Amino acid sequence: MAHGMMFLALCGLASAYSDRGILKLDNTTFDRIIDGSKDVFVRFDKEYAYGDDHDAWKKFAAEVGGSSAAMLVADVGVSEYGDKDNKDLADRFSIKTDEFPQYRLFLKGSSTSPTSYTGEKKYEGFLRFVQEKAGVWVGLPGQIKELDALAKEFVKGDKAAVLAKAESAAKALETKDEDSGKYYVKVMQKASEKGDFVTKETERLQKMIEDGAVKADKKKDFGRRLNILSSFA
Ligand SMILES: *[C@@H]1O[C@H](CO)[C@@H](O)[C@H](O)[C@H]1NC(C)=O
Repeated sequence: MAHGMMFLALCGLASAYSDRGILKLDNTTFDRIIDGSKDVFVRFDKEYAYGDDHDAWKKFAAEVGGSSAAMLVADVGVSEYGDKDNKDLADRFSIKTDEFPQYRLFLKGSSTSPTSYTGEKKYEGFLRFVQEKAGVWVGLPGQIKELDALAKEFVKGDKAAVLAKAESAAKALETKDEDSGKYYVKVMQKASEKGDFVTKETERLQKMIEDGAVKADKKKDFGRRLNILSSFA
């Protein structure tokens, strides 16, 4: 009996900490946190959000929180009844309650003009977005830190020289990362030949992932490729 109660008490505690990595903002803290000194990714949503979008956001926030990324994840929870707490903050960014959830990335140095996130409300979508826009490294399935840095260099710099570096980096990888390494190299080869390869291939894979007839393990593989492609964006 005592044991059961102990268990319940622990569950209660666990749920209190289930939103790890999410800072809750209101109009007394918003401007103190979003002051242009750091990147902050903010969700505007109902005060008590739930469902798949919410779970994806929580997983994303916990991942960013647990990483060394110089970024904060925050929530502006707007109450629908009574005092309509935080509605003033949503209004400030012209966000309507019937469009919830809405996501805004406030980049360092720009605390008043955030970038909207309009992609899929999924864990990997959020991560790709902040990696792309804020240059944050968290690491998605398929991505390899060293090759990711080379991918970014490739986009800006001397393609042939970077490709050569990527080839030798890919050869030195552990077995589990070999396939990813080969794919980074392949993308560089293709993109050297065709300037629009990354855009086209991203579109093609996205369509395949949305196709109901494609098997789950294939989709997983396409997802890893999309993660790698996003490093070239
Ligand atoms: C700040 O939020 C409180 C609580 O919702 C509200 O009463 C107050 O009017 C808000 N302040 C401003 C300046 O909007």
